[in-house]
Amino acid sequence: MQEQYSVAQYVSDLRRITAETKDEDEIFNQVGPLAQRLAADDSWIEDRFFTPDEETGFSAFLLHEEEDHNLAVLAASWTPGMGVGPHDHGTWAIVVGVQGSERNIRYKRLDDRNKLDYAELEIKEESIAGPGDLVCIRNGGIHSVRNESDNVTLSLHTYGHHVNYTTRYQYDLEARSASEFKVDVK
Ligand SMILES: [Fe+2]
Repeated sequence: MQEQYSVAQYVSDLRRITAETKDEDEIFNQVGPLAQRLAADDSWIEDRFFTPDEETGFSAFLLHEEEDHNLAVLAASWTPGMGVGPHDHGTWAIVVGVQGSERNIRYKRLDDRNKLDYAELEIKEESIAGPGDLVCIRNGGIHSVRNESDNVTLSLHTYGHHVNYTTRYQYDLEARSASEFKVDVK
């Protein structure tokens, strides 16, 4: 049995690692296993995390952010059949499954990014992330998430910077449009 690993210990490790390196691969290599360790520790999980907003089918709960909005750690849940369309984060992201399985689709951007509200995307790869599975997304990477299971999913998200304080976008695949994106965080 692994020793308990708290959000506070995780944040302290996050601070040390991100002070030592800004290289995303290095951050993913070092933080990824620690995020998996925290995801496996149920000490931080609250019952309310499993009751996503009834209207949107989604809720995000803030576990930590620095005063300057760096190093945001959130728990996110989706009701069955719900998800979020293609979006970026404006920073690096590390996601670990806690409960249930989420389909993750990664997209490639095809246009030249000359127009702010226009984007052409194509699907690059799809995967299913279950409990303990790690998904690392570079700054600028675009993905979508959907709960295709019969139960509420819960996942642990870590961002280099709180995503409501970066300039980041959501994309409409068919309309080929891009618009700024903020989420309701409890
Ligand atoms: Fe995301």
